[in-house]
Amino acid sequence: MRFTPLSVGVAALAVLAPETAATAPDGLRGQLDLATAHCSPSTPGNGYQASLDSYYSLDVREIKPVCVFRPRTAQHVSRAIKVLSKSTAGNVAVRGGGHSIWPNNNVADGVTIDLSLLNQTEVHLPNKKNAGAIASVGAGSRWTSALLEVEKYGLSITAGRVGTVGVAGLTLGGGLSFHSGRHGFTCDDVTNYEVVLANGQIVDANSKQNPDLFKALKGGGGNFGIVTRFDFAAFPAGPLYGGMVTAAWDHRDTIVDSFIRLIDINEQNPTDSQIVLYMYDVASRSSTVSSTVINTDGITNSTSFKPMAAVPWLSDQRATQTYGELAAAMSDNGGDRHVWFSLCFQNNKRVVDKATELYNQLIDDTQGAMGDVDRIIFVFQQLPRHYAQKNAGGNVLGMDKSLTADSIVWLGEAFARTPEAESLFQRKIAALTDELEAFAEAIGAATQWRYINYVNPTQEPLKSYGAEVKYTAQNIAFMKRVSAKYDPQGFFQTRVPGGFKISHVK
Ligand SMILES: Cc1cc2nc3c(=O)[nH]c(=O)nc-3n(C[C@H](O)[C@H](O)[C@H](O)COP(=O)(O)OP(=O)(O)OC[C@H]3O[C@@H](n4cnc5c(N)ncnc54)[C@H](O)[C@@H]3O)c2cc1C
Ligand SMILES: *[C@@H]1O[C@H](CO)[C@@H](O)[C@H](O)[C@H]1NC(C)=O
Ligand SMILES: *[C@@H]1O[C@H](CO)[C@@H](O)[C@H](O)[C@H]1NC(C)=O
Repeated sequence: MRFTPLSVGVAALAVLAPETAATAPDGLRGQLDLATAHCSPSTPGNGYQASLDSYYSLDVREIKPVCVFRPRTAQHVSRAIKVLSKSTAGNVAVRGGGHSIWPNNNVADGVTIDLSLLNQTEVHLPNKKNAGAIASVGAGSRWTSALLEVEKYGLSITAGRVGTVGVAGLTLGGGLSFHSGRHGFTCDDVTNYEVVLANGQIVDANSKQNPDLFKALKGGGGNFGIVTRFDFAAFPAGPLYGGMVTAAWDHRDTIVDSFIRLIDINEQNPTDSQIVLYMYDVASRSSTVSSTVINTDGITNSTSFKPMAAVPWLSDQRATQTYGELAAAMSDNGGDRHVWFSLCFQNNKRVVDKATELYNQLIDDTQGAMGDVDRIIFVFQQLPRHYAQKNAGGNVLGMDKSLTADSIVWLGEAFARTPEAESLFQRKIAALTDELEAFAEAIGAATQWRYINYVNPTQEPLKSYGAEVKYTAQNIAFMKRVSAKYDPQGFFQTRVPGGFKISHVK
Protein backbone atom coordinates (compact mmCIF):
# COMPACT_ATOMS: atom_id res chain seq x y z
CA MET A 1 0.00 0.00 0.00
CA ARG A 2 1.45 3.30 -1.09
CA PHE A 3 0.46 6.83 -0.27
CA THR A 4 -0.32 9.11 -3.18
CA PRO A 5 0.99 12.56 -2.48
CA LEU A 6 -1.45 15.12 -3.78
CA SER A 7 -1.54 18.64 -2.55
CA VAL A 8 0.91 17.97 0.24
CA GLY A 9 4.62 18.26 -0.23
CA VAL A 10 6.16 15.07 -1.52
CA ALA A 11 8.63 15.09 1.33
CA ALA A 12 5.85 14.80 3.87
CA LEU A 13 4.26 11.74 2.36
CA ALA A 14 7.22 9.98 0.85
CA VAL A 15 8.37 9.26 4.36
CA LEU A 16 5.23 7.28 4.95
CA ALA A 17 5.95 4.71 2.24
CA PRO A 18 7.19 1.49 3.79
CA GLU A 19 10.10 1.13 1.41
CA THR A 20 11.62 4.32 2.75
CA ALA A 21 11.05 3.26 6.31
CA ALA A 22 14.69 3.60 7.24
CA THR A 23 14.59 7.36 6.72
CA ALA A 24 10.99 7.73 7.73
CA PRO A 25 11.22 8.86 11.35
CA ASP A 26 13.54 11.76 10.59
CA GLY A 27 11.56 12.75 7.52
CA LEU A 28 8.25 12.89 9.34
CA ARG A 29 9.86 14.60 12.28
CA GLY A 30 11.37 17.19 10.00
CA GLN A 31 8.17 17.89 8.15
CA LEU A 32 5.86 17.97 11.12
CA ASP A 33 8.24 19.16 13.79
CA LEU A 34 7.03 16.27 15.84
CA ALA A 35 8.56 14.69 18.85
CA THR A 36 8.25 11.08 17.86
CA ALA A 37 7.19 9.19 14.80
CA HIS A 38 8.10 5.54 14.65
CA CYS A 39 7.83 4.27 11.14
CA SER A 40 10.04 1.28 10.91
CA PRO A 41 8.96 -2.08 12.20
CA SER A 42 12.55 -3.31 11.93
CA THR A 43 14.47 -0.57 13.73
CA PRO A 44 15.00 -1.80 17.26
CA GLY A 45 14.24 0.47 20.15
CA ASN A 46 12.30 3.09 18.24
CA GLY A 47 9.04 2.58 20.07
CA TYR A 48 7.18 0.98 17.19
CA GLN A 49 7.08 -2.52 18.61
CA ALA A 50 6.52 -1.28 22.16
CA SER A 51 3.44 0.57 20.96
CA LEU A 52 2.09 -2.54 19.21
CA ASP A 53 2.85 -4.80 22.17
CA SER A 54 0.85 -2.58 24.50
CA TYR A 55 -2.49 -3.23 22.75
CA TYR A 56 -4.97 -5.36 24.67
CA SER A 57 -5.93 -7.70 21.86
CA LEU A 58 -3.53 -10.03 20.10
CA ASP A 59 -5.39 -9.47 16.82
CA VAL A 60 -4.67 -5.76 17.05
CA ARG A 61 -1.00 -6.28 18.01
CA GLU A 62 -0.52 -8.20 14.76
CA ILE A 63 -1.56 -5.24 12.59
CA LYS A 64 1.56 -3.46 11.34
CA PRO A 65 0.92 0.20 10.51
CA VAL A 66 3.29 2.08 8.21
CA CYS A 67 4.07 4.50 11.05
CA VAL A 68 3.10 4.80 14.67
CA PHE A 69 3.01 8.48 15.48
CA ARG A 70 3.20 9.40 19.19
CA PRO A 71 2.34 13.07 19.72
CA ARG A 72 3.27 14.84 22.95
CA THR A 73 0.93 17.81 22.54
CA ALA A 74 -2.38 18.74 20.93
CA GLN A 75 -0.35 20.86 18.49
CA HIS A 76 1.46 17.74 17.32
CA VAL A 77 -1.89 16.08 16.67
CA SER A 78 -3.05 19.14 14.80
CA ARG A 79 0.03 19.21 12.55
CA ALA A 80 -0.31 15.51 11.81
CA ILE A 81 -3.99 15.83 10.91
CA LYS A 82 -3.24 18.74 8.59
CA VAL A 83 -0.68 16.66 6.71
CA LEU A 84 -2.63 13.41 6.71
CA SER A 85 -5.98 14.90 5.73
CA LYS A 86 -4.52 16.52 2.64
CA SER A 87 -3.33 13.23 1.21
CA THR A 88 -5.96 11.02 -0.41
CA ALA A 89 -4.52 7.59 0.12
CA GLY A 90 -3.54 5.70 3.21
CA ASN A 91 -5.66 5.58 6.30
CA VAL A 92 -5.36 6.80 9.85
CA ALA A 93 -6.13 5.11 13.17
CA VAL A 94 -6.49 6.77 16.56
CA ARG A 95 -5.47 4.98 19.71
CA GLY A 96 -6.20 5.99 23.30
CA GLY A 97 -5.53 3.23 25.84
CA GLY A 98 -5.62 0.56 23.11
CA HIS A 99 -8.04 -1.63 25.05
CA SER A 100 -10.67 -2.04 22.40
CA ILE A 101 -10.78 -5.73 21.53
CA TRP A 102 -11.11 -5.22 17.78
CA PRO A 103 -8.98 -3.34 15.24
CA ASN A 104 -10.71 0.04 15.42
CA ASN A 105 -7.54 1.47 16.97
CA ASN A 106 -4.78 0.40 14.55
CA VAL A 107 -4.47 0.34 10.78
CA ALA A 108 -2.38 -1.75 8.38
CA ASP A 109 -2.25 0.62 5.44
CA GLY A 110 -1.46 3.88 7.17
CA VAL A 111 -0.50 5.86 10.23
CA THR A 112 -1.61 5.05 13.76
CA ILE A 113 -1.77 8.07 16.02
CA ASP A 114 -0.92 6.64 19.44
CA LEU A 115 -1.91 9.18 22.10
CA SER A 116 -0.18 7.33 24.93
CA LEU A 117 2.29 10.13 25.66
CA LEU A 118 -0.62 12.51 26.36
CA ASN A 119 -0.95 10.89 29.76
CA GLN A 120 -0.90 13.75 32.27
CA THR A 121 -3.64 14.41 34.80
CA GLU A 122 -3.89 17.86 36.35
CA VAL A 123 -6.27 18.76 39.15
CA HIS A 124 -7.76 22.26 39.26
CA LEU A 125 -9.23 23.00 42.66
CA PRO A 126 -12.31 25.19 42.99
CA ASN A 127 -12.01 28.87 43.76
CA LYS A 128 -14.81 30.94 45.28
CA LYS A 129 -16.68 31.42 42.01
CA ASN A 130 -16.18 27.90 40.85
CA ALA A 131 -18.51 25.17 42.03
CA GLY A 132 -16.26 22.17 41.78
CA ALA A 133 -12.86 20.68 41.12
CA ILE A 134 -11.85 19.64 37.61
CA ALA A 135 -9.49 16.85 36.61
CA SER A 136 -7.91 17.52 33.22
CA VAL A 137 -6.91 14.14 31.85
CA GLY A 138 -4.73 13.64 28.78
CA ALA A 139 -6.38 11.43 26.15
CA GLY A 140 -3.68 8.78 26.30
CA SER A 141 -4.15 8.17 30.03
CA ARG A 142 -5.23 4.92 31.60
CA TRP A 143 -7.62 5.00 34.55
CA THR A 144 -5.12 4.04 37.27
CA SER A 145 -2.88 7.04 36.73
CA ALA A 146 -5.83 9.47 36.46
CA LEU A 147 -7.44 8.09 39.62
CA LEU A 148 -4.26 8.03 41.70
CA GLU A 149 -3.61 11.66 40.80
CA VAL A 150 -7.10 12.92 41.75
CA GLU A 151 -7.04 10.84 44.93
CA LYS A 152 -4.07 12.89 46.16
CA TYR A 153 -6.65 15.68 46.61
CA GLY A 154 -9.31 13.52 48.29
CA LEU A 155 -11.26 13.47 45.03
CA SER A 156 -12.57 10.88 42.61
CA ILE A 157 -13.93 10.78 39.05
CA THR A 158 -16.52 8.62 37.29
CA ALA A 159 -13.80 6.26 36.17
CA GLY A 160 -13.69 2.91 34.45
CA ARG A 161 -13.20 -0.07 36.72
CA VAL A 162 -10.08 -1.70 35.32
CA GLY A 163 -6.96 0.41 35.71
CA THR A 164 -5.23 -0.44 32.43
CA VAL A 165 -8.23 0.59 30.30
CA GLY A 166 -7.95 3.86 28.40
CA VAL A 167 -9.77 6.99 29.51
CA ALA A 168 -10.45 8.08 25.91
CA GLY A 169 -12.24 5.14 24.32
CA LEU A 170 -14.27 4.37 27.42
CA THR A 171 -15.42 7.97 27.87
CA LEU A 172 -16.19 8.56 24.18
CA GLY A 173 -18.46 5.49 24.17
CA GLY A 174 -20.34 6.36 27.38
CA GLY A 175 -18.60 4.65 30.29
CA LEU A 176 -19.87 2.45 33.10
CA SER A 177 -18.30 3.22 36.47
CA PHE A 178 -18.64 2.21 40.11
CA HIS A 179 -19.77 5.84 40.53
CA SER A 180 -22.55 5.55 37.91
CA GLY A 181 -25.24 5.30 40.60
CA ARG A 182 -24.52 8.88 41.67
CA HIS A 183 -23.03 10.25 38.45
CA GLY A 184 -24.48 8.37 35.47
CA PHE A 185 -22.18 7.49 32.59
CA THR A 186 -18.54 8.55 32.58
CA CYS A 187 -19.26 10.91 29.67
CA ASP A 188 -21.91 12.69 31.75
CA ASP A 189 -19.19 14.05 34.03
CA VAL A 190 -17.10 15.58 31.23
CA THR A 191 -17.32 19.36 31.43
CA ASN A 192 -15.04 20.12 28.49
CA TYR A 193 -13.28 18.31 25.65
CA GLU A 194 -10.19 19.64 23.89
CA VAL A 195 -10.61 18.37 20.33
CA VAL A 196 -8.53 18.44 17.16
CA LEU A 197 -10.91 18.73 14.21
CA ALA A 198 -10.36 17.30 10.73
CA ASN A 199 -8.94 20.63 9.51
CA GLY A 200 -6.38 20.61 12.30
CA GLN A 201 -8.10 23.29 14.36
CA ILE A 202 -7.87 22.77 18.14
CA VAL A 203 -11.18 23.66 19.80
CA ASP A 204 -12.87 23.32 23.15
CA ALA A 205 -16.29 21.72 23.35
CA ASN A 206 -18.37 22.48 26.42
CA SER A 207 -21.84 23.72 27.29
CA LYS A 208 -21.00 27.22 25.98
CA GLN A 209 -18.47 26.63 23.19
CA ASN A 210 -19.44 24.21 20.42
CA PRO A 211 -22.27 22.75 22.53
CA ASP A 212 -23.47 20.49 19.70
CA LEU A 213 -20.03 18.88 19.45
CA PHE A 214 -19.98 18.64 23.26
CA LYS A 215 -23.16 16.59 23.27
CA ALA A 216 -22.20 14.43 20.28
CA LEU A 217 -18.92 13.43 21.95
CA LYS A 218 -20.93 12.04 24.86
CA GLY A 219 -21.46 8.58 23.45
CA GLY A 220 -20.72 9.23 19.77
CA GLY A 221 -17.22 7.71 19.79
CA GLY A 222 -14.46 8.83 17.42
CA ASN A 223 -16.82 10.22 14.76
CA PHE A 224 -16.11 13.91 15.16
CA GLY A 225 -12.47 14.60 15.95
CA ILE A 226 -9.51 13.51 18.03
CA VAL A 227 -9.99 14.39 21.67
CA THR A 228 -6.68 15.37 23.24
CA ARG A 229 -7.93 16.20 26.75
CA PHE A 230 -10.95 15.39 28.88
CA ASP A 231 -11.92 17.74 31.71
CA PHE A 232 -13.92 15.79 34.29
CA ALA A 233 -15.93 17.08 37.20
CA ALA A 234 -14.05 15.71 40.22
CA PHE A 235 -15.87 15.19 43.52
CA PRO A 236 -14.85 14.47 47.10
CA ALA A 237 -14.56 10.76 47.88
CA GLY A 238 -13.03 8.61 50.56
CA PRO A 239 -12.09 4.97 50.20
CA LEU A 240 -14.65 2.52 48.87
CA TYR A 241 -15.33 -0.92 50.27
CA GLY A 242 -15.34 -4.02 48.15
CA GLY A 243 -13.59 -6.23 45.66
CA MET A 244 -14.06 -9.54 43.98
CA VAL A 245 -15.56 -12.59 45.68
CA THR A 246 -15.71 -16.04 44.10
CA ALA A 247 -17.94 -18.99 44.88
CA ALA A 248 -18.52 -22.52 43.63
CA TRP A 249 -21.04 -22.83 40.77
CA ASP A 250 -23.66 -24.26 43.17
CA HIS A 251 -24.14 -20.80 44.65
CA ARG A 252 -25.03 -19.20 41.32
CA ASP A 253 -28.74 -18.92 42.11
CA THR A 254 -28.20 -17.13 45.41
CA ILE A 255 -25.78 -14.70 43.79
CA VAL A 256 -27.99 -14.00 40.78
CA ASP A 257 -31.06 -13.48 42.98
CA SER A 258 -29.10 -11.04 45.09
CA PHE A 259 -27.89 -9.20 41.96
CA ILE A 260 -31.42 -8.86 40.60
CA ARG A 261 -32.60 -7.50 43.93
CA LEU A 262 -29.64 -5.08 44.01
CA ILE A 263 -30.78 -3.64 40.65
CA ASP A 264 -34.38 -3.38 41.93
CA ILE A 265 -33.31 -1.32 44.93
CA ASN A 266 -30.41 0.52 43.33
CA GLU A 267 -32.08 3.88 43.03
CA GLN A 268 -32.35 3.91 46.85
CA ASN A 269 -28.83 2.47 47.22
CA PRO A 270 -26.92 4.20 44.42
CA THR A 271 -23.48 3.71 45.94
CA ASP A 272 -23.76 -0.09 45.66
CA SER A 273 -22.79 -1.98 42.56
CA GLN A 274 -22.21 -5.54 41.54
CA ILE A 275 -20.80 -7.33 38.53
CA VAL A 276 -21.61 -11.02 38.19
CA LEU A 277 -19.17 -13.13 36.25
CA TYR A 278 -19.49 -16.78 35.19
CA MET A 279 -16.09 -18.14 34.39
CA TYR A 280 -15.20 -21.41 32.75
CA ASP A 281 -11.64 -22.21 33.63
CA VAL A 282 -10.14 -24.41 30.95
CA ALA A 283 -7.33 -25.74 33.11
CA SER A 284 -9.73 -27.18 35.71
CA ARG A 285 -12.62 -27.70 33.23
CA SER A 286 -15.04 -26.17 35.70
CA SER A 287 -17.06 -23.02 36.23
CA THR A 288 -17.16 -20.63 39.14
CA VAL A 289 -19.26 -17.56 39.75
CA SER A 290 -17.60 -14.38 40.86
CA SER A 291 -18.93 -11.01 41.84
CA THR A 292 -17.31 -7.64 42.17
CA VAL A 293 -19.24 -6.02 45.00
CA ILE A 294 -18.60 -2.36 45.76
CA ASN A 295 -19.91 0.36 48.01
CA THR A 296 -18.36 3.65 46.96
CA ASP A 297 -19.04 5.25 50.37
CA GLY A 298 -16.91 2.60 52.09
CA ILE A 299 -19.85 0.97 53.88
CA THR A 300 -19.00 -2.65 54.69
CA ASN A 301 -22.51 -3.96 55.41
CA SER A 302 -24.68 -2.52 52.63
CA THR A 303 -28.16 -3.92 52.47
CA SER A 304 -27.67 -4.67 48.74
CA PHE A 305 -25.32 -7.54 49.54
CA LYS A 306 -27.17 -9.04 52.54
CA PRO A 307 -28.72 -11.96 50.58
CA MET A 308 -25.22 -13.27 49.86
CA ALA A 309 -24.10 -13.14 53.48
CA ALA A 310 -24.11 -16.93 53.89
CA VAL A 311 -22.28 -17.77 50.67
CA PRO A 312 -19.00 -19.55 51.49
CA TRP A 313 -16.54 -17.68 49.28
CA LEU A 314 -13.66 -19.61 47.76
CA SER A 315 -11.81 -16.31 47.63
CA ASP A 316 -12.67 -12.92 49.04
CA GLN A 317 -10.72 -9.82 48.00
CA ARG A 318 -13.01 -7.24 49.58
CA ALA A 319 -11.12 -4.47 51.33
CA THR A 320 -11.34 -0.84 52.28
CA GLN A 321 -9.28 0.78 49.54
CA THR A 322 -9.37 3.68 47.13
CA TYR A 323 -10.95 3.36 43.69
CA GLY A 324 -7.49 3.79 42.16
CA GLU A 325 -6.04 0.99 44.28
CA LEU A 326 -8.89 -1.31 43.29
CA ALA A 327 -8.60 -0.37 39.60
CA ALA A 328 -4.85 -1.03 39.72
CA ALA A 329 -5.47 -4.42 41.34
CA MET A 330 -7.94 -5.28 38.57
CA SER A 331 -5.44 -4.43 35.80
CA ASP A 332 -5.63 -6.59 32.72
CA ASN A 333 -3.18 -6.33 29.85
CA GLY A 334 -4.92 -8.87 27.62
CA GLY A 335 -2.94 -10.82 25.06
CA ASP A 336 -5.60 -13.20 23.79
CA ARG A 337 -7.80 -13.09 20.70
CA HIS A 338 -10.84 -11.62 22.37
CA VAL A 339 -14.32 -12.44 21.10
CA TRP A 340 -16.96 -10.22 22.68
CA PHE A 341 -20.71 -9.96 22.11
CA SER A 342 -23.05 -7.83 24.16
CA LEU A 343 -26.74 -7.30 24.71
CA CYS A 344 -28.94 -5.51 27.17
CA PHE A 345 -32.16 -6.94 28.55
CA GLN A 346 -34.52 -6.21 31.37
CA ASN A 347 -33.69 -7.13 34.96
CA ASN A 348 -35.53 -10.42 34.64
CA LYS A 349 -34.40 -13.74 36.13
CA ARG A 350 -35.82 -15.71 33.21
CA VAL A 351 -33.41 -14.03 30.79
CA VAL A 352 -30.46 -14.64 33.11
CA ASP A 353 -31.52 -18.29 33.38
CA LYS A 354 -31.70 -18.49 29.58
CA ALA A 355 -28.20 -17.00 29.37
CA THR A 356 -27.03 -19.61 31.89
CA GLU A 357 -28.50 -22.42 29.82
CA LEU A 358 -26.75 -21.03 26.71
CA TYR A 359 -23.50 -20.72 28.64
CA ASN A 360 -23.63 -24.38 29.66
CA GLN A 361 -24.49 -25.40 26.11
CA LEU A 362 -21.62 -23.36 24.68
CA ILE A 363 -19.15 -25.06 26.96
CA ASP A 364 -20.49 -28.52 26.15
CA ASP A 365 -20.41 -27.81 22.40
CA THR A 366 -16.85 -26.50 22.34
CA GLN A 367 -15.01 -29.02 24.49
CA GLY A 368 -12.99 -30.08 21.44
CA ALA A 369 -11.57 -26.57 21.05
CA MET A 370 -10.79 -25.85 24.69
CA GLY A 371 -7.10 -26.63 24.18
CA ASP A 372 -6.89 -23.32 22.28
CA VAL A 373 -8.84 -21.22 24.76
CA ASP A 374 -7.80 -19.59 28.04
CA ARG A 375 -11.28 -19.05 29.40
CA ILE A 376 -14.91 -18.32 28.65
CA ILE A 377 -16.77 -15.71 30.63
CA PHE A 378 -20.28 -14.31 30.78
CA VAL A 379 -20.54 -10.95 32.54
CA PHE A 380 -23.70 -9.33 33.90
CA GLN A 381 -23.69 -5.67 34.92
CA GLN A 382 -26.41 -3.50 36.33
CA LEU A 383 -28.12 -0.89 34.14
CA PRO A 384 -30.88 0.55 36.32
CA ARG A 385 -33.06 3.24 34.77
CA HIS A 386 -31.80 5.92 37.11
CA TYR A 387 -28.29 5.80 35.54
CA ALA A 388 -29.75 7.36 32.41
CA GLN A 389 -31.50 10.21 34.20
CA LYS A 390 -28.41 11.93 35.64
CA ASN A 391 -27.81 13.90 32.44
CA ALA A 392 -31.09 13.41 30.57
CA GLY A 393 -30.84 14.85 27.07
CA GLY A 394 -27.17 15.76 27.61
CA ASN A 395 -25.65 12.81 25.78
CA VAL A 396 -26.46 10.93 22.57
CA LEU A 397 -26.97 7.49 24.13
CA GLY A 398 -30.74 7.99 23.98
CA MET A 399 -31.31 6.06 27.17
CA ASP A 400 -33.02 8.78 29.13
CA LYS A 401 -35.95 7.90 26.82
CA SER A 402 -35.25 4.39 25.60
CA LEU A 403 -34.34 2.75 28.91
CA THR A 404 -37.88 2.10 30.08
CA ALA A 405 -37.06 -0.68 32.57
CA ASP A 406 -34.22 -1.49 34.94
CA SER A 407 -31.86 -3.60 32.89
CA ILE A 408 -28.75 -5.74 32.70
CA VAL A 409 -25.80 -5.33 30.34
CA TRP A 410 -24.59 -8.77 29.29
CA LEU A 411 -21.23 -9.68 27.76
CA GLY A 412 -20.27 -13.10 26.38
CA GLU A 413 -16.52 -13.46 25.92
CA ALA A 414 -14.06 -16.06 24.74
CA PHE A 415 -10.32 -15.68 25.32
CA ALA A 416 -8.96 -17.59 22.34
CA ARG A 417 -5.33 -18.36 21.56
CA THR A 418 -5.58 -19.30 17.89
CA PRO A 419 -7.37 -17.76 14.89
CA GLU A 420 -9.27 -21.05 14.49
CA ALA A 421 -10.61 -20.96 18.03
CA GLU A 422 -11.41 -17.29 17.58
CA SER A 423 -13.52 -17.89 14.50
CA LEU A 424 -15.25 -20.85 16.12
CA PHE A 425 -16.29 -18.73 19.11
CA GLN A 426 -17.17 -15.81 16.87
CA ARG A 427 -19.75 -18.09 15.17
CA LYS A 428 -20.94 -19.79 18.34
CA ILE A 429 -21.38 -16.68 20.46
CA ALA A 430 -23.01 -14.81 17.57
CA ALA A 431 -25.65 -17.52 17.29
CA LEU A 432 -26.08 -17.66 21.05
CA THR A 433 -26.50 -13.88 21.20
CA ASP A 434 -29.27 -14.04 18.59
CA GLU A 435 -31.00 -16.75 20.58
CA LEU A 436 -30.75 -14.81 23.82
CA GLU A 437 -32.05 -11.66 22.17
CA ALA A 438 -34.95 -13.54 20.59
CA PHE A 439 -35.81 -15.03 23.98
CA ALA A 440 -35.79 -11.63 25.68
CA GLU A 441 -37.97 -10.20 22.92
CA ALA A 442 -40.40 -13.11 23.07
CA ILE A 443 -41.07 -12.61 26.76
CA GLY A 444 -41.22 -8.81 26.47
CA ALA A 445 -37.94 -8.31 28.33
CA ALA A 446 -35.76 -6.75 25.61
CA THR A 447 -33.80 -3.52 26.10
CA GLN A 448 -32.70 -1.81 22.92
CA TRP A 449 -29.34 -0.24 23.88
CA ARG A 450 -26.15 -1.81 22.54
CA TYR A 451 -23.08 -0.56 24.36
CA ILE A 452 -20.55 0.59 21.74
CA ASN A 453 -17.62 -0.36 24.00
CA TYR A 454 -18.78 -3.94 24.55
CA VAL A 455 -20.38 -5.07 21.30
CA ASN A 456 -18.93 -7.27 18.61
CA PRO A 457 -17.97 -5.32 15.47
CA THR A 458 -20.91 -7.02 13.71
CA GLN A 459 -23.50 -5.66 16.16
CA GLU A 460 -24.14 -2.08 14.91
CA PRO A 461 -24.54 -0.27 18.22
CA LEU A 462 -25.23 3.24 16.89
CA LYS A 463 -28.56 2.03 15.51
CA SER A 464 -29.65 1.35 19.08
CA TYR A 465 -29.28 5.03 19.90
CA GLY A 466 -32.50 5.61 18.11
CA ALA A 467 -33.19 4.03 14.73
CA GLU A 468 -36.06 1.89 15.88
CA VAL A 469 -37.51 4.23 18.42
CA LYS A 470 -39.06 7.48 17.26
CA TYR A 471 -38.10 9.68 20.14
CA THR A 472 -34.43 8.74 20.00
CA ALA A 473 -34.11 8.58 16.19
CA GLN A 474 -33.22 12.23 16.43
CA ASN A 475 -29.89 11.27 18.04
CA ILE A 476 -28.77 9.64 14.79
CA ALA A 477 -29.78 12.67 12.73
CA PHE A 478 -28.12 14.94 15.28
CA MET A 479 -24.80 13.07 15.12
CA LYS A 480 -24.91 13.20 11.31
CA ARG A 481 -25.41 16.98 11.42
CA VAL A 482 -22.55 17.43 13.89
CA SER A 483 -20.27 15.26 11.73
CA ALA A 484 -21.15 17.29 8.60
CA LYS A 485 -20.58 20.58 10.43
CA TYR A 486 -17.22 19.81 12.09
CA ASP A 487 -15.86 17.44 9.46
CA PRO A 488 -17.38 18.56 6.14
CA GLN A 489 -14.96 16.47 4.05
CA GLY A 490 -15.79 13.36 6.05
CA PHE A 491 -12.18 12.71 7.11
CA PHE A 492 -13.21 10.78 10.23
CA GLN A 493 -15.86 8.88 8.23
CA THR A 494 -13.65 7.71 5.37
CA ARG A 495 -9.96 8.13 6.20
CA VAL A 496 -10.22 6.91 9.78
CA PRO A 497 -12.01 3.64 9.07
CA GLY A 498 -11.88 2.17 12.59
CA GLY A 499 -14.93 2.24 14.80
CA PHE A 500 -18.64 2.60 14.22
CA LYS A 501 -19.25 5.35 11.68
CA ILE A 502 -22.31 7.53 11.96
CA SER A 503 -22.40 7.90 8.15
CA HIS A 504 -22.99 4.14 7.87
CA VAL A 505 -26.13 4.17 10.00
CA LYS A 506 -29.20 3.99 7.76
C1 LIG B 1 -10.35 -5.43 30.75
C2 LIG B 1 -11.38 -4.44 30.29
C3 LIG B 1 -12.18 -3.80 31.23
C4 LIG B 1 -13.14 -2.86 30.85
N1 LIG B 1 -13.91 -2.25 31.80
C5 LIG B 1 -14.81 -1.32 31.42
C6 LIG B 1 -15.60 -0.62 32.39
O1 LIG B 1 -15.47 -0.80 33.60
N2 LIG B 1 -16.51 0.28 31.96
C7 LIG B 1 -16.69 0.53 30.64
O2 LIG B 1 -17.55 1.36 30.32
N3 LIG B 1 -15.96 -0.09 29.70
C8 LIG B 1 -15.03 -1.01 30.05
N4 LIG B 1 -14.29 -1.65 29.09
C9 LIG B 1 -14.53 -1.36 27.66
C10 LIG B 1 -13.77 -0.11 27.25
O3 LIG B 1 -14.62 1.00 27.47
C11 LIG B 1 -13.38 -0.14 25.76
O4 LIG B 1 -12.53 -1.23 25.52
C12 LIG B 1 -12.71 1.17 25.33
O5 LIG B 1 -12.69 1.21 23.93
C13 LIG B 1 -11.32 1.30 25.89
O6 LIG B 1 -10.80 2.58 25.69
P1 LIG B 1 -9.31 2.77 25.14
O7 LIG B 1 -8.97 4.21 25.12
O8 LIG B 1 -8.40 1.83 25.85
O9 LIG B 1 -9.58 2.24 23.67
P2 LIG B 1 -8.83 2.33 22.23
O10 LIG B 1 -8.73 0.93 21.80
O11 LIG B 1 -7.60 3.13 22.29
O12 LIG B 1 -9.91 3.12 21.43
C14 LIG B 1 -11.24 2.67 21.24
C15 LIG B 1 -11.89 3.48 20.12
O13 LIG B 1 -11.94 4.87 20.46
C16 LIG B 1 -11.24 5.66 19.50
N5 LIG B 1 -10.45 6.66 20.23
C17 LIG B 1 -9.59 6.40 21.25
N6 LIG B 1 -9.10 7.55 21.71
C18 LIG B 1 -9.64 8.54 20.97
C19 LIG B 1 -9.51 9.96 21.01
N7 LIG B 1 -8.74 10.55 21.90
N8 LIG B 1 -10.22 10.69 20.13
C20 LIG B 1 -11.03 10.08 19.22
N9 LIG B 1 -11.20 8.75 19.16
C21 LIG B 1 -10.51 7.99 20.02
C22 LIG B 1 -10.34 4.68 18.77
O14 LIG B 1 -10.04 5.13 17.47
C23 LIG B 1 -11.15 3.41 18.80
O15 LIG B 1 -12.09 3.41 17.75
C24 LIG B 1 -13.30 -2.57 29.47
C25 LIG B 1 -12.48 -3.19 28.52
C26 LIG B 1 -11.53 -4.11 28.92
C27 LIG B 1 -10.68 -4.77 27.89
C1 LIG C 1 3.36 8.70 30.82
O1 LIG C 1 4.01 7.85 29.89
C2 LIG C 1 5.42 7.81 30.04
C3 LIG C 1 5.99 7.01 28.88
O2 LIG C 1 5.41 5.74 28.83
C4 LIG C 1 5.75 7.22 31.41
O3 LIG C 1 7.15 7.22 31.60
C5 LIG C 1 5.10 8.07 32.49
O4 LIG C 1 5.30 7.48 33.75
C6 LIG C 1 3.60 8.20 32.24
N1 LIG C 1 3.01 9.15 33.17
C7 LIG C 1 1.92 8.87 33.88
C8 LIG C 1 1.41 9.96 34.73
O5 LIG C 1 1.38 7.79 33.84
C1 LIG D 1 -24.30 -1.54 59.33
O1 LIG D 1 -23.58 -1.43 60.53
C2 LIG D 1 -23.85 -0.22 61.23
C3 LIG D 1 -22.87 -0.12 62.39
O2 LIG D 1 -22.82 -1.34 63.09
C4 LIG D 1 -25.32 -0.20 61.65
O3 LIG D 1 -25.62 0.99 62.33
C5 LIG D 1 -26.17 -0.30 60.41
O4 LIG D 1 -27.53 -0.39 60.76
C6 LIG D 1 -25.80 -1.52 59.59
N1 LIG D 1 -26.52 -1.47 58.31
C7 LIG D 1 -27.13 -2.49 57.80
C8 LIG D 1 -27.80 -2.28 56.48
O5 LIG D 1 -27.14 -3.58 58.33
